[in-house]
Amino acid sequence: MTHQDDVRAAFTRQIETLTSSPLDAESLGRLLRLVEPEAHWRGLDVGTGPGGVALALADRIAEVHGVDVTPASIAAAREQVAQEGRTNVTFEIADIERLPFEDASFDLVTCRRVGHHLEHLGAALTEMRRVLKRGGRLVLDDRLAPHETTGRLIDRLEHTRDPSHVHCLTMEEWEASLTAAGFVVDVVDRYESRVTWKRFTAAATPEKAEALRELCNTLSDKERASMLEDRAGETWVKQWAAVLSAR
Ligand SMILES: C[S@@+](CC[C@H](N)C(=O)[O-])C[C@H]1O[C@@H](n2cnc3c(N)ncnc32)[C@H](O)[C@@H]1O
Repeated sequence: MTHQDDVRAAFTRQIETLTSSPLDAESLGRLLRLVEPEAHWRGLDVGTGPGGVALALADRIAEVHGVDVTPASIAAAREQVAQEGRTNVTFEIADIERLPFEDASFDLVTCRRVGHHLEHLGAALTEMRRVLKRGGRLVLDDRLAPHETTGRLIDRLEHTRDPSHVHCLTMEEWEASLTAAGFVVDVVDRYESRVTWKRFTAAATPEKAEALRELCNTLSDKERASMLEDRAGETWVKQWAAVLSAR
Protein backbone atom coordinates (compact mmCIF):
# COMPACT_ATOMS: atom_id res chain seq x y z
CA MET A 1 0.00 0.00 0.00
CA THR A 2 1.49 3.37 -1.00
CA HIS A 3 1.13 6.55 1.03
CA GLN A 4 -1.41 7.86 -1.47
CA ASP A 5 -3.47 4.67 -1.01
CA ASP A 6 -3.51 5.48 2.73
CA VAL A 7 -4.61 9.05 1.92
CA ARG A 8 -7.42 7.91 -0.38
CA ALA A 9 -8.63 5.28 2.11
CA ALA A 10 -8.55 7.77 5.00
CA PHE A 11 -10.39 10.53 3.19
CA THR A 12 -12.95 8.33 1.53
CA ARG A 13 -13.87 7.30 5.08
CA GLN A 14 -13.70 10.83 6.51
CA ILE A 15 -15.89 12.83 4.13
CA GLU A 16 -18.77 13.06 6.59
CA THR A 17 -16.65 14.11 9.57
CA LEU A 18 -14.70 16.64 7.48
CA THR A 19 -17.77 18.60 6.53
CA SER A 20 -19.54 18.40 9.90
CA SER A 21 -16.65 19.50 12.15
CA PRO A 22 -17.38 22.55 14.31
CA LEU A 23 -13.75 23.56 13.72
CA ASP A 24 -14.49 23.76 10.02
CA ALA A 25 -16.37 27.07 10.27
CA GLU A 26 -13.79 28.65 12.56
CA SER A 27 -10.79 27.69 10.45
CA LEU A 28 -12.61 28.74 7.27
CA GLY A 29 -13.31 32.19 8.74
CA ARG A 30 -9.69 32.63 9.78
CA LEU A 31 -8.43 31.52 6.38
CA LEU A 32 -10.80 33.81 4.45
CA ARG A 33 -9.72 36.78 6.57
CA LEU A 34 -6.11 36.31 5.45
CA VAL A 35 -7.09 35.79 1.79
CA GLU A 36 -8.42 39.36 1.33
CA PRO A 37 -10.02 38.31 -1.97
CA GLU A 38 -10.28 40.52 -5.03
CA ALA A 39 -13.24 39.91 -7.33
CA HIS A 40 -11.18 39.40 -10.52
CA TRP A 41 -8.92 36.70 -9.03
CA ARG A 42 -8.39 33.14 -10.27
CA GLY A 43 -7.83 30.80 -7.33
CA LEU A 44 -6.77 27.21 -6.71
CA ASP A 45 -7.59 25.14 -3.61
CA VAL A 46 -5.21 22.17 -3.27
CA GLY A 47 -6.20 19.07 -1.28
CA THR A 48 -9.71 20.47 -1.55
CA GLY A 49 -11.52 17.43 -0.07
CA PRO A 50 -15.28 17.91 -0.49
CA GLY A 51 -14.58 21.48 -1.59
CA GLY A 52 -15.55 23.65 1.41
CA VAL A 53 -12.79 26.24 0.91
CA ALA A 54 -13.14 26.30 -2.89
CA LEU A 55 -16.91 26.85 -2.67
CA ALA A 56 -16.51 29.67 -0.13
CA LEU A 57 -13.95 31.31 -2.42
CA ALA A 58 -16.27 30.94 -5.41
CA ASP A 59 -18.60 33.49 -3.75
CA ARG A 60 -15.75 35.98 -3.56
CA ILE A 61 -13.54 35.62 -6.66
CA ALA A 62 -14.03 35.16 -10.40
CA GLU A 63 -12.85 31.59 -10.92
CA VAL A 64 -11.87 28.70 -8.64
CA HIS A 65 -10.32 25.27 -9.25
CA GLY A 66 -10.05 22.54 -6.65
CA VAL A 67 -7.81 19.46 -6.82
CA ASP A 68 -7.51 16.38 -4.65
CA VAL A 69 -6.11 12.83 -4.98
CA THR A 70 -9.17 11.22 -3.41
CA PRO A 71 -11.81 10.47 -6.08
CA ALA A 72 -14.64 10.27 -3.50
CA SER A 73 -13.84 13.83 -2.34
CA ILE A 74 -13.89 15.18 -5.88
CA ALA A 75 -17.20 13.39 -6.55
CA ALA A 76 -18.69 14.98 -3.39
CA ALA A 77 -17.38 18.43 -4.36
CA ARG A 78 -18.79 18.14 -7.90
CA GLU A 79 -22.16 17.05 -6.54
CA GLN A 80 -22.24 20.13 -4.33
CA VAL A 81 -21.42 22.38 -7.30
CA ALA A 82 -24.24 20.80 -9.30
CA GLN A 83 -26.70 21.23 -6.41
CA GLU A 84 -25.74 24.88 -5.98
CA GLY A 85 -25.76 25.50 -9.74
CA ARG A 86 -22.38 27.22 -9.67
CA THR A 87 -20.54 27.94 -12.91
CA ASN A 88 -17.25 29.46 -11.72
CA VAL A 89 -15.80 26.47 -9.87
CA THR A 90 -14.44 23.15 -11.15
CA PHE A 91 -12.88 20.16 -9.40
CA GLU A 92 -10.44 17.56 -10.65
CA ILE A 93 -8.40 14.64 -9.40
CA ALA A 94 -4.74 15.64 -9.22
CA ASP A 95 -1.68 15.29 -6.99
CA ILE A 96 -0.42 18.50 -5.37
CA GLU A 97 3.10 17.47 -6.35
CA ARG A 98 2.16 17.53 -10.05
CA LEU A 99 -0.41 20.27 -10.54
CA PRO A 100 -2.00 20.18 -14.02
CA PHE A 101 -1.76 23.97 -14.47
CA GLU A 102 0.59 26.35 -16.24
CA ASP A 103 3.22 28.43 -14.49
CA ALA A 104 2.03 31.72 -13.01
CA SER A 105 -1.64 31.03 -13.69
CA PHE A 106 -3.25 31.83 -10.29
CA ASP A 107 -3.60 34.91 -8.07
CA LEU A 108 -4.32 32.76 -5.02
CA VAL A 109 -3.57 29.23 -3.80
CA THR A 110 -5.23 27.91 -0.64
CA CYS A 111 -4.34 24.73 1.21
CA ARG A 112 -6.26 23.79 4.35
CA ARG A 113 -5.33 20.88 6.64
CA VAL A 114 -3.28 19.09 3.97
CA GLY A 115 0.41 19.72 4.78
CA HIS A 116 0.65 17.14 7.56
CA HIS A 117 -0.52 14.43 5.14
CA LEU A 118 2.14 15.14 2.51
CA GLU A 119 5.09 12.81 2.02
CA HIS A 120 7.01 15.46 0.05
CA LEU A 121 5.95 18.83 1.49
CA GLY A 122 8.83 20.67 -0.22
CA ALA A 123 7.83 19.41 -3.67
CA ALA A 124 4.20 20.36 -3.01
CA LEU A 125 5.09 23.90 -1.88
CA THR A 126 7.35 24.33 -4.93
CA GLU A 127 4.42 23.37 -7.17
CA MET A 128 2.17 25.90 -5.40
CA ARG A 129 4.81 28.61 -5.94
CA ARG A 130 5.16 27.59 -9.61
CA VAL A 131 1.45 28.03 -10.42
CA LEU A 132 1.18 31.33 -8.53
CA LYS A 133 1.67 34.60 -10.38
CA ARG A 134 4.48 36.87 -9.20
CA GLY A 135 3.09 38.53 -6.06
CA GLY A 136 0.30 35.94 -5.89
CA ARG A 137 -0.76 34.77 -2.45
CA LEU A 138 -0.63 31.39 -0.71
CA VAL A 139 -2.88 31.02 2.34
CA LEU A 140 -2.53 27.79 4.22
CA ASP A 141 -4.01 26.43 7.39
CA ASP A 142 -2.57 23.40 9.07
CA ARG A 143 -2.21 21.56 12.33
CA LEU A 144 0.72 22.95 14.29
CA ALA A 145 3.13 21.36 16.78
CA PRO A 146 3.58 23.90 19.62
CA HIS A 147 7.17 22.65 19.96
CA GLU A 148 9.25 19.64 18.93
CA THR A 149 8.58 17.40 21.94
CA THR A 150 4.80 17.70 21.72
CA GLY A 151 5.18 17.46 17.94
CA ARG A 152 6.75 14.00 18.26
CA LEU A 153 3.85 12.91 20.48
CA ILE A 154 1.27 14.38 18.07
CA ASP A 155 2.89 12.41 15.24
CA ARG A 156 2.76 9.15 17.24
CA LEU A 157 -0.89 9.62 18.18
CA GLU A 158 -1.99 10.87 14.77
CA HIS A 159 -0.15 8.18 12.83
CA THR A 160 -1.68 5.50 15.06
CA ARG A 161 -5.14 6.98 14.50
CA ASP A 162 -4.68 7.59 10.78
CA PRO A 163 -1.77 6.18 8.71
CA SER A 164 -2.15 9.03 6.20
CA HIS A 165 -0.66 11.41 8.81
CA VAL A 166 3.00 12.17 8.04
CA HIS A 167 4.28 15.03 10.19
CA CYS A 168 2.85 17.92 12.18
CA LEU A 169 5.23 20.87 11.70
CA THR A 170 6.34 23.48 14.25
CA MET A 171 6.10 27.14 13.22
CA GLU A 172 9.87 27.18 12.64
CA GLU A 173 9.54 24.19 10.30
CA TRP A 174 6.67 25.88 8.41
CA GLU A 175 8.63 29.07 7.95
CA ALA A 176 11.76 27.20 6.83
CA SER A 177 9.77 25.02 4.37
CA LEU A 178 7.97 28.02 2.88
CA THR A 179 11.19 30.01 2.56
CA ALA A 180 12.95 27.05 0.89
CA ALA A 181 10.12 26.90 -1.69
CA GLY A 182 10.60 30.60 -2.53
CA PHE A 183 7.85 32.16 -0.38
CA VAL A 184 8.06 35.12 1.95
CA VAL A 185 5.70 34.67 4.93
CA ASP A 186 3.82 37.89 5.69
CA VAL A 187 1.06 37.01 8.19
CA VAL A 188 0.78 34.27 10.81
CA ASP A 189 -2.32 33.52 12.89
CA ARG A 190 -2.22 30.75 15.54
CA TYR A 191 -5.12 29.17 17.38
CA GLU A 192 -5.90 26.31 19.74
CA SER A 193 -8.89 24.04 20.08
CA ARG A 194 -10.09 20.93 21.93
CA VAL A 195 -11.97 17.99 20.48
CA THR A 196 -13.65 15.21 22.42
CA TRP A 197 -12.05 11.78 22.30
CA LYS A 198 -15.22 10.54 20.59
CA ARG A 199 -14.85 13.08 17.81
CA PHE A 200 -11.08 12.51 17.58
CA THR A 201 -11.57 8.80 16.94
CA ALA A 202 -14.79 9.08 14.92
CA ALA A 203 -13.16 8.45 11.53
CA ALA A 204 -10.67 5.82 12.74
CA THR A 205 -11.27 2.14 12.09
CA PRO A 206 -12.15 0.19 15.29
CA GLU A 207 -8.66 -1.37 15.22
CA LYS A 208 -6.94 2.02 14.98
CA ALA A 209 -9.14 3.49 17.72
CA GLU A 210 -8.18 0.57 19.99
CA ALA A 211 -4.47 0.93 19.15
CA LEU A 212 -4.72 4.64 19.98
CA ARG A 213 -6.39 3.92 23.33
CA GLU A 214 -3.62 1.42 24.15
CA LEU A 215 -0.94 3.93 23.20
CA CYS A 216 -2.53 6.58 25.43
CA ASN A 217 -2.50 4.14 28.34
CA THR A 218 1.30 3.90 28.02
CA LEU A 219 1.88 7.68 28.18
CA SER A 220 3.63 9.25 31.16
CA ASP A 221 1.59 11.75 33.22
CA LYS A 222 3.56 14.60 31.63
CA GLU A 223 2.95 13.35 28.09
CA ARG A 224 -0.73 12.80 28.80
CA ALA A 225 -1.12 16.29 30.28
CA SER A 226 0.52 17.84 27.22
CA MET A 227 -2.09 16.38 24.86
CA LEU A 228 -5.16 15.27 26.81
CA GLU A 229 -7.49 16.92 29.29
CA ASP A 230 -10.17 15.26 31.45
CA ARG A 231 -13.08 17.64 31.90
CA ALA A 232 -16.84 17.30 32.47
CA GLY A 233 -16.62 13.51 32.39
CA GLU A 234 -14.95 13.48 28.96
CA THR A 235 -11.43 13.22 27.60
CA TRP A 236 -10.50 16.12 25.32
CA VAL A 237 -7.62 16.18 22.84
CA LYS A 238 -5.68 19.43 22.54
CA GLN A 239 -4.99 20.66 19.02
CA TRP A 240 -2.99 23.61 17.72
CA ALA A 241 -3.24 25.21 14.29
CA ALA A 242 -1.75 28.00 12.23
CA VAL A 243 -2.93 30.02 9.25
CA LEU A 244 -0.11 31.51 7.22
CA SER A 245 -0.19 33.93 4.37
CA ALA A 246 2.84 34.03 2.06
CA ARG A 247 3.85 35.51 -1.29
C1 LIG B 1 -7.86 16.95 6.11
S1 LIG B 1 -8.38 16.89 4.42
C2 LIG B 1 -8.71 18.61 4.12
C3 LIG B 1 -9.69 18.82 3.00
C4 LIG B 1 -10.01 20.29 2.73
N1 LIG B 1 -8.83 21.05 2.40
C5 LIG B 1 -10.73 20.93 3.89
O1 LIG B 1 -10.14 21.79 4.54
O2 LIG B 1 -11.90 20.56 4.15
C6 LIG B 1 -6.87 16.62 3.52
C7 LIG B 1 -7.10 16.42 2.03
O3 LIG B 1 -5.84 16.41 1.36
C8 LIG B 1 -5.91 15.50 0.28
N2 LIG B 1 -4.53 15.15 -0.12
C9 LIG B 1 -3.58 14.55 0.62
N3 LIG B 1 -2.45 14.39 -0.10
C10 LIG B 1 -2.69 14.93 -1.33
C11 LIG B 1 -1.90 15.09 -2.51
N4 LIG B 1 -0.64 14.66 -2.58
N5 LIG B 1 -2.47 15.71 -3.56
C12 LIG B 1 -3.76 16.14 -3.52
N6 LIG B 1 -4.56 16.01 -2.43
C13 LIG B 1 -4.02 15.41 -1.34
C14 LIG B 1 -6.72 14.35 0.87
O4 LIG B 1 -7.27 13.52 -0.12
C15 LIG B 1 -7.78 15.12 1.67
O5 LIG B 1 -8.93 15.38 0.90
